[in-house]
Amino acid sequence: MRETATDFIEDALSRLGRAVREHGSDLRNVQLATVSASGSPEIRTLVLRGFEWPPAQAEMHTDVRAAKAHAIAATDRVALLAWSATERLQLRLGGVATLHVDDTVARGRWKDLSDNARSAYGSVANPGDAIADPEDRSLLPPDIQFRQFGVLFIAVDTIDVLRLGAEGRQTRAAGRIDRDRLQAGWVAA
Ligand SMILES: Cc1cc2nc3c(=O)[nH]c(=O)nc-3n(C[C@H](O)[C@H](O)[C@H](O)COP(=O)(O)O)c2cc1C
Repeated sequence: MRETATDFIEDALSRLGRAVREHGSDLRNVQLATVSASGSPEIRTLVLRGFEWPPAQAEMHTDVRAAKAHAIAATDRVALLAWSATERLQLRLGGVATLHVDDTVARGRWKDLSDNARSAYGSVANPGDAIADPEDRSLLPPDIQFRQFGVLFIAVDTIDVLRLGAEGRQTRAAGRIDRDRLQAGWVAA
């Protein structure tokens, strides 16, 4: 039977889910785009810590003092981009972000982090602030570090998948997720 656009997108989503568990996977580093409070687009790379489907939900971790957390507080609509050079696969996801801080979700994730991983969220200086010495990595006391740790969930509702094939052949499908149901169709690349 011919592959449907839904099969094509679901295959891409399951690759994203597997990438979370494969440390070398290039789908594991995703770009998160937000809109700042002043309306400017902002983008940065994050490690994808979880991806489920269905329901389509991505998980990432951040220092809650960082610009992305402020942007999400102003505008919760975000976009995610994942590109695998090995699989020649691009996923563009849109959705709504929720940040968990100092709650049971954040506590559950924090307990599984090594001290080294925890220190990524524990700098004395706020992320993005000017510092005199680039080597200054002074850390907050461990109990205060936790309060800077945020678990970011993206409830994905739009998906666009592009696969590059041989001889410039491109296959693209786009879809929407509504109440855990994916409605997808082929689109011109
Ligand atoms: C490969 C890679 C992985 C990264 N992973 C994360 C991450 O998981 N969480 C995070 O907050 N920042 C991560 N960063 C740093 C961000 O890209 C960014 O510099 C930082 O979060 C500040 O972003 P903001 O000021 O836009 O909030 C990563 C950077 C790279 C290059």
